[in-house]
Parts: sequence; structure tokens; C-alpha cells
Amino acid sequence: MIKTPNNINKDWTILPDALSVALKACELIEESANDAIEDRGVFRIVLAGGTTPERIYSILAGKSYDWSQWEFYLGDERCLPISSPERNSQMALHTWLNEIDVPAENIFFIPAELGAEKAAKEYAETIKSKLPFDLVLLGMGEDGHTASLFPGHEHNEDDLTHAVYESPKPPSDRVSMSVKTLSNTHNLLLLITGENKQTAVKQWQAGDDLPISKITSLRKKIVLLDQAATNS
Ligand code: 6PG
Repeated sequence: MIKTPNNINKDWTILPDALSVALKACELIEESANDAIEDRGVFRIVLAGGTTPERIYSILAGKSYDWSQWEFYLGDERCLPISSPERNSQMALHTWLNEIDVPAENIFFIPAELGAEKAAKEYAETIKSKLPFDLVLLGMGEDGHTASLFPGHEHNEDDLTHAVYESPKPPSDRVSMSVKTLSNTHNLLLLITGENKQTAVKQWQAGDDLPISKITSLRKKIVLLDQAATNS
């Protein structure tokens, strides 16, 4: 693993390419699952949306873990019909959850088809008894957003979830876990690949106040980046 040159951020690990990020992420997810299941008999993982995690989910779909001990949540969801291929839930199902023997009752998706306000309220009720999570996975957008927490958007930081409107990344209406909720996790794994993320990575390293830089964790926080994202 190549550490950042002058260890700007001790939690950062720069790997040669997106595949090595995916493989390392799978290793860390398995480690986190083993620890949680050993300690508490259940592994509560919050999945990231977008495209970066797709390869990770596909690799994990080929593993033979006891999936009945895993519970799956989503950090955010797009307000689209439940079967829309643009939904983060559909991406998680197609790349991973439809391919494994996981009980349906272990999957806690955001009911974003109900509309942002109603879905955010319902999901807050769903997750409040599940905290802290064991592992939160997050990607980062080109503007430094993460989940559906966008620069310039104001939210009540005490909320567990937010209804999001006028998202700069379509669709306009979304539901997101809050900074507080995404940080209420034993472990946090951030996944950033691709040269289109370079500007946001530089801003983050410069200490800019980006949504992604607000997320913390109770124990471990690991940031996996490929060289394309860090221009290194
Ligand atoms: C979404 C995601 C979003 C995503 C980033 C990175 O709904 O799109 O929740 O936060 O993780 O935009 O997206 P990529 O992984 O596709 O670059």
C-alpha cells in the first residue's frame, strides 16, 4: 500500500488503480464483518451508491459468507420508482444482493419512491434502533459531495436522515443519511477513484469544508484512492 507522500492524511491509502482499490475494499469489508459478527453476531453495513462500489459489490457477490448475519442499509437513495435502474437499491441488487442468499428481512432500503419528506421520516424510524453501524461505505462526487450531502445544502445536523431537494446530481429529489448518522459507525471506508475526482481530492487535502470531510467514525476511518484520483 502506498501511503500519501507526506502523510497529509494518515487515513489515506493510494493504490495503483480502481481494481486494487476494489480488492483492498473487499478485504477491509470482510475484516469488518468478521469482527462485528464475532463481537455482536450481526454485521450492519451501509452501502454507497453511484458507480464506484459496483466492482466491489460484484466481487463480494462471489463470496460464500453466512449472509444471514449481514444487514444491508443505504447511505442515500434517489427519489425514483422502486424499479428504476437509476436507483442505488437497484444497483446494489443487480451487482450483489440478488446474487447471494440473504434473507429479504436483512435488507433495509430507503423507501424513496414515497417522496423525499415521507421517506426520510420513515427511514429515520428504521435505522434509529440499528445504530451504531459496523461499517459505512461512501463514495465522493466531483464537487466533494458524499451520499446525497451536497455543498451549500443546509440541513438540521441533529436529524438522522434528510430530505434533499434541488440536488446538483440528478435526480433533484433524494434522501440521505445525515453526517451524524453516517459518522455513527464503528468503521468508515471512503472509496475514491478516477481522475474526475482530482479537484475535490485537492480541495479536501487543502482542508476545504466539503461534505465528505465532515464524516467521521467511532473507530477506524480508511480512505482508499487510486492514483488517477490523486494525480500522483
Ligand atoms: C449517488 C451516490 C453519490 C455517489 C457519488 C460518487 O446517489 O450518486 O450516493 O454520493 O457516491 O456521486 O459517484 P460515482 O461513484 O459514480 O463517482
